[in-house]
Amino acid sequence: MSNLLTSFIQTNQPLIEETLHDLIKDIKAPQPLKDAMLYSLQAGGKRIRPLYTLAVLKELDYQNEDALIVASTIEMIHTYSLIHDDLPAMDNDDLRRGKPTNHIVFGEALAILAGDALVTIAFGIIARLQNISPQLKVDLIEKLSFSAGAEGMVGGQVLDMLGEGQTLNLEQLEEIHVNKTGALLSYSILAGAIIANVPGEIMSALKKYAFHIGLAFQIQDDILDVEGTSEQLGKTAGKDLKSEKNTYPSILTIEGAKKELQNQYNQAFQALENVQMHNGLLVEFANYITKRSK
Ligand code: IPE
Ligand code: IPE
Ligand code: MG
Ligand code: MG
Ligand code: MG
Repeated sequence: MSNLLTSFIQTNQPLIEETLHDLIKDIKAPQPLKDAMLYSLQAGGKRIRPLYTLAVLKELDYQNEDALIVASTIEMIHTYSLIHDDLPAMDNDDLRRGKPTNHIVFGEALAILAGDALVTIAFGIIARLQNISPQLKVDLIEKLSFSAGAEGMVGGQVLDMLGEGQTLNLEQLEEIHVNKTGALLSYSILAGAIIANVPGEIMSALKKYAFHIGLAFQIQDDILDVEGTSEQLGKTAGKDLKSEKNTYPSILTIEGAKKELQNQYNQAFQALENVQMHNGLLVEFANYITKRSK
């Protein structure tokens, strides 16, 4: 990782951890529910999505007191998606972020409800912010809702599930990945652009960058499922083959998947180059996304 990105992450990750904790610790909810929410939230994810929102704002040289909170709400929704993704009815995993999955510790019912609570609170937290205009808050809430829901992540998870045991073509696989992972990851990039209220040309470039990074992120997740170990990943490796999932390696071979990853990176880079944003943090972040080992 470059020095620029390393120091950015070292500065911002602790702030995200603190914000997540502060946002949940005082809510008026039954203690077992709060425990289950905090267990997964604080299990130590990479925090890529909130970091991305903040990285975009840094690149744009724009400061907003509520940015950390907006960024943290994305991590809440991401964490909810992982809790549900791991349930027996879905991927049936018992290891996540290096720890037993939520339902293993708290039982299925509380795990489902902790997920429900994380996703629903995220929208209310944005609605209450004081330092972002009502118009931009509605924009954030609308885009978050569609990225996370039936037209985004939830829809993608359904296609992923329906595709198990079937042989899909590349176009169908791309549709799954763009939705189940790309949509929320892309939103995390666009949230920074929305907060900064960027002009149309920059928004279009960042949208293109976000689309390709979102897809690249899941391609690398598929590659790591094949090449990584459970210890390294903090989640069960080799799971996709066992579950007969359609993945980039399963359809294109591992070499083909790596080539496609590079192709997506190149397109993301080009989008930045078009608006002269190809020398800073967002390129470093793209490098990290495509080369990460966990
Ligand atoms: C894993 O996401 C699930 C996918 C959408 C591929 P991350 O790799 O960002 O997981 P954490 O948050 O670091 O645990
Ligand atoms: C997850 O995809 C996408 C989500 C919306 C959570 P995966 O099922 O591949 O994620 P991991 O590998 O379990 O983290
Ligand atoms: Mg899954
Ligand atoms: Mg899974
Ligand atoms: Mg995976």
